Amino acid sequence: MFKGLKDTWKHVWFILTYPKIGPDMYFTHWLLFFKPFRIWFQKRKIGYIGKNSEIRPYCVIIGTKNISIGNNVTIPPGTMLIANPGAPEARIIIEDDVLFGPNNAVYCSTHKYDNPALPIQAQGYISKTTLIRSGSWIGINAVIMPGITIGRNAVVGANSVVTKDVPDYAVVAGAPARILKYTNEIKDDGSR
Ligand SMILES: CC(C)(COP(=O)(O)OP(=O)(O)OC[C@H]1O[C@@H](n2cnc3c(N)ncnc32)[C@H](O)[C@@H]1OP(=O)(O)O)[C@@H](O)C(=O)NCCC(=O)NCCS
Repeated sequence: MFKGLKDTWKHVWFILTYPKIGPDMYFTHWLLFFKPFRIWFQKRKIGYIGKNSEIRPYCVIIGTKNISIGNNVTIPPGTMLIANPGAPEARIIIEDDVLFGPNNAVYCSTHKYDNPALPIQAQGYISKTTLIRSGSWIGINAVIMPGITIGRNAVVGANSVVTKDVPDYAVVAGAPARILKYTNEIKDDGSR
């Protein structure tokens, strides 16, 4: 009986204090549905969040204190921003005016897997800062790998897996994502 109560309290404490936002954190997730509560909650939970930015219900954010979100950014349902609470030096930085489609996954950690004598879950992590620069657009279902920089006003196509840095103004797509074009390129006829 006592053990059951202790376990329940441990679970409640985890949900209230672990640096995570998600539908499974049920004591707090409902706050995202109501604007005044959402504004209070997202400011309290996220490392930094700017003006006119919104964390929508049904996204998952882990390592909330390692995450910085600029102004005018909406994190839509299905988005996963996965930082590592054990590696506060590795952050996810999202600058101003970034446009996210739904169901993106942005990571800043990956599992080590090079020791064949150990299960991979026992080998630890490598964590790197992932940066999404201002004005860029990340299409639906994209995956952005740890340590990647997405340049200013860059476009990431739907379903892309981004494994290399994306230059400013580049349009990339595919798995792995390849550069299709640059939006600031001047064509032979003088147009962009
Ligand atoms: C990347 C994107 C912006 C490119 O659009 P575009 O400039 O009109 O480019 P095009 O459609 O002319 O495609 C150019 C080439 O890239 C390919 N391509 C385009 N998008 C692609 C994608 N997501 N994955 C793989 N290849 C893609 C096209 O097949 C075409 O290849 P081809 O030259 O061999 O025929 C667009 O395709 C895209 O993915 N938009 C995201 C939409 C989205 O997620 N919306 C919801 C979120 S708000």
